[in-house]
Amino acid sequence: MLNNKILTMAGIYIHIPFCKKRCTYCDFYTEVAPQLIPTLIDSIVEELRIRKDYLRNASIQTIYFGGGTPSILTKIQFERIFDAIYTHYSVNNDAEITFEANPDDLTSDFLESTRSLPFNRISIGIQSFDDTDLKRINRRHTGIQAAKAVKMAQKAGFRNISIDLIYGLPFQTMEGWKKQLDSAFSLKVQHVSAYGLTYEEGTALWKQRENGELKTVDDETMIEMYGLLIAKMKQNGFEAYEISNFSLPDFRSKHNTAYWKQEPYIGIGPSAHSYDLKSRQWNIASITKYVNAIAENTVFFEREELTLNDQYNDFVMVSLRTSDGLDLSLLEAKFGAEYKAYCLKNIKTYIDTKKVDYFVERLRLTAEGIQISNLILIELMRV
Ligand SMILES: C[S@@+](CC[C@H](N)C(=O)[O-])C[C@H]1O[C@@H](n2cnc3c(N)ncnc32)[C@H](O)[C@@H]1O
Ligand code: SF4
Repeated sequence: MLNNKILTMAGIYIHIPFCKKRCTYCDFYTEVAPQLIPTLIDSIVEELRIRKDYLRNASIQTIYFGGGTPSILTKIQFERIFDAIYTHYSVNNDAEITFEANPDDLTSDFLESTRSLPFNRISIGIQSFDDTDLKRINRRHTGIQAAKAVKMAQKAGFRNISIDLIYGLPFQTMEGWKKQLDSAFSLKVQHVSAYGLTYEEGTALWKQRENGELKTVDDETMIEMYGLLIAKMKQNGFEAYEISNFSLPDFRSKHNTAYWKQEPYIGIGPSAHSYDLKSRQWNIASITKYVNAIAENTVFFEREELTLNDQYNDFVMVSLRTSDGLDLSLLEAKFGAEYKAYCLKNIKTYIDTKKVDYFVERLRLTAEGIQISNLILIELMRV
């Protein structure tokens, strides 16, 4: 039933896998190799053409340039990618079109050059406004530059601006985190993504922790920091529409919401993921191998057909992270009564202990449930 659904709406994700230097916490696939940018743009344009039937002509509701660092590209490079998108895909007139930017790239010249491009949303990676935090994690910008970047984007006409923050950075205190939030709200942005720091294995930050070079934030303080985040968001009129995402009314990220609603998307570029309701696939995480394959008119990817259990697991995982919660009627319609019964049986303890709210066929994590969301999700998975 699910697999034969006609695709009506879809998204395009373009991965720009370049960074001017690497931040110590990050394990996204990127390289510091600016000399490869022109070749990669050629290959991205080609991949858009080669895979033009992947979304079966669905209308494109969202386009998202992520990274890495999309703000490393020139206007002409963006134009070439947009030309390929508009040639091969049907993009809705009101599509949400976002690019991620690093603050120090947002010069007035760069912003001016984006004016004639179809972007209507910008996501700025700030992480912190504190210069000591920023230096420690090897960011390229200062706090003042970060605030200036937001103001310049506003001046350049962007009316839908998101910023990324990270809490629980090494040595961070509650007072320090509170200051970050106050700085963020003073900028009058429409959307904030705030992530609890994770120590990804193999990253420089992970090694520093292994070597005992860092004062890490303990679990209890992380919970308190999240509590403060939620309280401040509420005070400032932001809706917590997903565990890490907050927006003013009408400014939810349409692109991410589509992921959470399990709508199909095509991911273009090295390491980018794609989903067409029945399978997931991911491009090779190597610029050179990716480019070489495209030169031979093929795409280097791995693919996994999704079983009903996989699809149920994805559905539960993404919907429980959102404020709309998990719609049990929808779950039953998609997967059948047995799956609904399994879900209810396994979540019962958490409903009884008020970690999960069960109301009118919907399950939602409570504030306490969010703190142990990983544990709850594991209980609900089917293997
Ligand atoms: C892949 S980055 C791209 C954004 C852009 N390159 C930048 O750095 O500004 C997307 C976001 O993921 C978050 N992120 C990446 N690694 C993380 C980690 N280990 N823990 C928490 N957040 C992380 C950061 O907030 C970052 O802005
Ligand atoms: S956080 Fe952004 S700039 Fe830093 S390494 Fe990751 S992708 Fe690159």
